[in-house]
Amino acid sequence: MSELVDTFNRTHRDLRVSLTDRCSLRCTYCMPKDFDKWLPSHELLTTDELITVIDVATEHGINQVRLTGGEPLLRPDIVDIVNRINSLSNPPELSLTTNALRLADLAAPLFEAGLVRVNVSLDTLSRERFKRLTFRDRIGDVFKGLKAAREAGLAPIKINSVLMPGVNDDEAPALLQWAINERFTLRFIEQMPLDAGGIWDRKTMVSAEQILNSLSPHFTLTPVPARGSAPAEEFYIDGGNQKVGIIASVTQPFCGACDRLRLTSDGQLRSCLFSRDETDLRKVLRSSKLSNTQIRDEISTRFQKTVLGKRAGHGIDDPSFVQPIRPMSAIGG
Ligand code: 5AD
Ligand code: SF4
Repeated sequence: MSELVDTFNRTHRDLRVSLTDRCSLRCTYCMPKDFDKWLPSHELLTTDELITVIDVATEHGINQVRLTGGEPLLRPDIVDIVNRINSLSNPPELSLTTNALRLADLAAPLFEAGLVRVNVSLDTLSRERFKRLTFRDRIGDVFKGLKAAREAGLAPIKINSVLMPGVNDDEAPALLQWAINERFTLRFIEQMPLDAGGIWDRKTMVSAEQILNSLSPHFTLTPVPARGSAPAEEFYIDGGNQKVGIIASVTQPFCGACDRLRLTSDGQLRSCLFSRDETDLRKVLRSSKLSNTQIRDEISTRFQKTVLGKRAGHGIDDPSFVQPIRPMSAIGG
């Protein structure tokens, strides 16, 4: 079947799949503190529906699938989902982005189901700051989850950190030293305007350049050549083989090499986090007029159509930029 090539000649290989819009934290850059506009559960794709979409996507050359949320480990059948994706005729490389709160219980069963690596979101090492940032006193569960992930054999374990002005922007060196000691791969992510609460400000956001400047008195960072479609600009630390990444989504957008598509938990396909348009796959999956083959054919057509409609870039820096209506938790990170 044809590959998913867009009008800018980008071939799409990576599908981000949101399993739920719900989350056990309330990270300020992601959702408003009192957010309660959750999708009713009948609007979420069922596991059978998800598997159909992923199966069709792999026929079009998608070979990487990242499970996200909200918090994907809140999905009760997460282990079964991992198992089923790994049992497809053309299994994609599978990864998962989590806040780690449930990882202490789930790391081992997920590894047994075939998950190999995991990305954990953690922006601070301080219990007080974690509370302020996420509105939940749960940093201890994150550390337990990370320990379990390592013991289960998940590797690499990557940590995603978002720095915010006046909140944790002084913590970059401490986070990196901790990651080095624990042998986690740390990536700093520039904060994007996705919070739906309006806290993002281009003038005060912590840029990649500022992050590098705050790390350089403490570490010798040598750029790693060859970036491909990976968004992180990587650096070797102190001449060793451990790396740190900086994802400069705002100040140095990598849209030109983007190979990602996103499936929201309610079955909408998006060509970009910042798309204003979505393609409805759920309607096709639930159509009583179509046979299974016709459903797969129509999903296939809609993948191609979505890719052909993909724009060159997100244009965050453009004055005409409009934030997406849904928060990050509803789109999938
Ligand atoms: N800007 C940058 N990163 C974000 N994430 C969530 N919201 C934002 C935002 N506004 C990150 C989380 C998580 C990943 C999926 O996306 O930290 O690690
Ligand atoms: Fe939850 Fe992730 Fe959003 Fe934080 S960033 S509230 S952990 S979905």
